[in-house]
Amino acid sequence: MKRQSRGGALSLPSGRHRGRPLQGDSLRIAIGADHAGFPLKEELKAYLEGQGIIYDDLGTYSPEPVDYPDIALRVAEAVAQGRFERGILICGTGIGASVAANKVPGVRAALCHDTFSARCSRAHNDSNILTLGARVIGFGLAKEIVNVWLNTEFEGGRHAVRLEKIKRIEERFGGGRGKAKVDSLAGYRAKSPPPLRERR
Ligand code: RB5
Repeated sequence: MKRQSRGGALSLPSGRHRGRPLQGDSLRIAIGADHAGFPLKEELKAYLEGQGIIYDDLGTYSPEPVDYPDIALRVAEAVAQGRFERGILICGTGIGASVAANKVPGVRAALCHDTFSARCSRAHNDSNILTLGARVIGFGLAKEIVNVWLNTEFEGGRHAVRLEKIKRIEERFGGGRGKAKVDSLAGYRAKSPPPLRERR
């Protein structure tokens, strides 16, 4: 397993596994989790390795608390930029990771806690990121969901027309422009809103 370091506040070693992907030779997966999702990420990595699936672990690398938007941005950007075909994101509920990842133009993150949703998210929505809640489901179910999600193809046809409409919504709200400005949240510090009486 190759280990490498990355820049930014979350700079920690990254684990990459190379093996035989399930679909074709080019399916590469970026996997990431916050502290709540960290244990499930480690279990899923072992599962992916057992299946010979290529992945790159974009963090976090310990149970120390981190903010899920930082990890979601890393994985979402990597997928949106085409560095990986798919991403898997794990937080406590899968909700925060999904909300954050879906802010990145071109990302279609799907929170799936059952295999039917996982299959439809690929076949109908061409989801490119799967999000999971480690505090909601166990490893056994997560493994089955990942397996179905990795092995389901997008059906295209009428669903492609709908994805075009989603793209148009992104464009309407500036998606795709200004992307270069947001390459990391590493230096980002949330500002507290001013007290109500001072707000304009
Ligand atoms: C972390 O405590 C938790 O809020 C986070 O993992 C996630 O569930 C957010 O949606």
